[in-house]
Amino acid sequence: MPTYPSRVTVYEVGPRDGLQNEARHVPVEDRVRYIEMLADAGLPFVEAGAFVSPKAVPQMAGSDEVLAALHRKESVRYPVLVPNERGMERALAAGASDVAVFTAASESFTRANINATIAESIENFRPVARLAQQHNIPVRGYVSTALGCPYEGYVAPEAVVRVASALVELGVWQVSIGDTIGVGTPAGVEAVLSALVSEIPADMIAVHFHDTRGTALANVLTSLQMAITTVDSSSAGLGGCPYAPGASGNLATEDLLYMLHGMNIDTGVSIEKVAEASFFITGALGRRPESKFLQAFAAGARQADAAH
Ligand code: HMG
Ligand code: MG
Repeated sequence: MPTYPSRVTVYEVGPRDGLQNEARHVPVEDRVRYIEMLADAGLPFVEAGAFVSPKAVPQMAGSDEVLAALHRKESVRYPVLVPNERGMERALAAGASDVAVFTAASESFTRANINATIAESIENFRPVARLAQQHNIPVRGYVSTALGCPYEGYVAPEAVVRVASALVELGVWQVSIGDTIGVGTPAGVEAVLSALVSEIPADMIAVHFHDTRGTALANVLTSLQMAITTVDSSSAGLGGCPYAPGASGNLATEDLLYMLHGMNIDTGVSIEKVAEASFFITGALGRRPESKFLQAFAAGARQADAAH
């Protein structure tokens, strides 16, 4: 039997990755309420916004207002994305106490997403890391397109290791390995993670799966077998990247929690409260939750209604 960790850290990206791709504008007060509901559910990390160009991602405009209005819990960290020094200055001015930089393992996606080469992106992060150190702010690093690129296709595990190692040298406390377009399978995940753990300790690695082709939970299981204990997910299964054509929702937090709790793996998170947050935000977006867990819940409710 494979062995699994007894506890997993769930890193919630719904208010950032989930909302950045939505056509409908979500007002600041609803974004704040959504983040607070997720924090109340016991999630230890709730990614709260992004200090990127509002021309590039208009959905994340107002992240400063979100941080200002948020009632923060001491037990929860609220990271925000920053792509460059300008973003870091804005994040600091808004009172951010956790940030994340993001680049990718393929050149074409990095160009489309942040208008830089991979090497330039690392240079752009140096002043971010310097400012973060001065202000005692932890920096997370994302490596997108780790299992495949929407423009280039196959991405070699060595390319992922190179970028992740450059981020670790920069001083990030954790690297999140992203399957941005949801093309990964357990075989690919195993190849990338085995290459990574030979260079970077497993406890510094997180996994970030998009469920575009239904393989996200299988990929999580493979990652847990390889001693990874932090998993990114998005409530209601919202998400995508505006610069990754065809990228659909992230792995849904409810689906992840259902699997982990069913395996007796502790997360400290209430699935019911995450479900409430998912209903709230999908209501604000005028759509239904994408998660299998809530689709089954809705089907159960309909069956119960029909039985009466
Ligand atoms: P650029 O056009 O090359 O930047 O964009 P620039 O330095 O030439 O500046 C152009 C304009 O943007 C200027 O304004 C700057 O002031 C402004 P103008 O003079 O034209 O009025 N600007 C900024 N404004 C606000 N905040 C800033 C900032 N920087 C410059 N920080 C840039 C380069 C990186 C800024 C742009 O491409 C950008 O913002 N990209 C963000 C894209 C993004 O957010 N993508 C989604 C997140 S990544 C993701 O989802 C993947 C992940 O989930 C993991 C996975 O799934 O794989 C993390
Ligand atoms: Mg993502």
